[in-house]
Amino acid sequence: MFAGTFHGKTVWLSGHTGFKGAWLARWLVQLGARVHGFALPPATTPSVFAQLGLAKKIGHEIADVRAAAAVKKSLLRVQPDFVFHLAAQALVRYSYEYPLETYATNVMGTAHVLEALRSLEKPCAAVIVTTDKCYENREMDCAYAEEDHLGGHDPYSSSKGAAEIVTSAYRRSFFGKSPVRIASARAGNVIGGGDWAPDRLVPDCIRALQRGEAIPVRNQTATRPWQHVLEPLSGYLWLATALAQPKLVAAEAKDVLTAFNFGPEKEANRNVAELVGEVLKSWPGRWDDRSDPQSVHEAKLLMLSTAKAKKVLHWQPTWKFETAVARTVEWYRVVNENAAAAENLTLQQIAEYEAAARAAKTAWAAK
Ligand SMILES: NC(=O)c1ccc[n+]([C@@H]2O[C@H](COP(=O)([O-])OP(=O)(O)OC[C@H]3O[C@@H](n4cnc5c(N)ncnc54)[C@H](O)[C@@H]3O)[C@@H](O)[C@H]2O)c1
Repeated sequence: MFAGTFHGKTVWLSGHTGFKGAWLARWLVQLGARVHGFALPPATTPSVFAQLGLAKKIGHEIADVRAAAAVKKSLLRVQPDFVFHLAAQALVRYSYEYPLETYATNVMGTAHVLEALRSLEKPCAAVIVTTDKCYENREMDCAYAEEDHLGGHDPYSSSKGAAEIVTSAYRRSFFGKSPVRIASARAGNVIGGGDWAPDRLVPDCIRALQRGEAIPVRNQTATRPWQHVLEPLSGYLWLATALAQPKLVAAEAKDVLTAFNFGPEKEANRNVAELVGEVLKSWPGRWDDRSDPQSVHEAKLLMLSTAKAKKVLHWQPTWKFETAVARTVEWYRVVNENAAAAENLTLQQIAEYEAAARAAKTAWAAK
């Protein structure tokens, strides 16, 4: 997998106590990497970080990306071969309540990581994680490509658009001749076991189903590019591999290794009602329309083009929408019955995902 790139390597990973960061940390450990996590304490109980027992498997540093000196000290002490920057205030509705915290974490936090990387005097491949929401959303029936306008209606989306601009400026200003290589990754809405965040659709579904209550659905017609958490993570890992060894991966010159979308195929662009319906096939229950005309603005239509990732990295999505939802609900159902099963099930799902990618002859799984 990933051409054995991560075996024996040191990885600095911000956001390891969150949903995607915990999955990425566990996958990296499985790939033989030494992982050092940098994040705030888990924000929820339960948390996938605790459910996977990660405190005992990786370096676990509780610290704040808003503190430039702490970021620099940590990164220079660890001397990583790879950096994955996932730490963020990642919730749209929370960003309306706490815009300054959101900008401080997402924009200046990213600048602090990039600034620390300037002082690293060794080869290092760094992937800065933003989101599909970084594009100026025109609510049109078209898929956003990497060269489309950045923007964002709400504080979260615009903070990620700004993080993209900061990353691009740092790359062009400071990393041209540096041994450190930087790229950014924009992924769509992610589902998977162990997301316990408030105000996200799948965790809301699971909490209601666990209590035997109707699932509260706010925005049933909003359409998103849903994908299993392992999809963007495979993209981040393969992008990092490409930065470290461009000739091994990239079909084109290394100067195209800048920003990449990692999204699902078009068939997985589904609306909220369709996603909830799919969840209920694996965990029967009911849902209630809780649309509120007074609620804050959230994008209605969002689609991502993955043509660049396919052309340059030979990356492609692996699981269909139905498989992604089935694996997600399987995780919650099994762990609901037996909390101790979380780690084995996570490793089993990673192995199933790797096998499906290998069978599809996806580049990262074939090497
Ligand atoms: N979940 C999704 O659907 C989705 C979609 C697209 C992009 N993303 C992006 O992926 C990344 C991870 O998202 P997630 O879903 O795992 O989010 P999450 O909320 O589950 O985790 C966020 C992580 O960031 C850390 N963090 C937050 N503020 C911090 C601070 N000031 N200092 C240090 N650490 C801090 C938290 O401790 C946690 O580890 C984020 O950058 C997010 O914007 C997520």
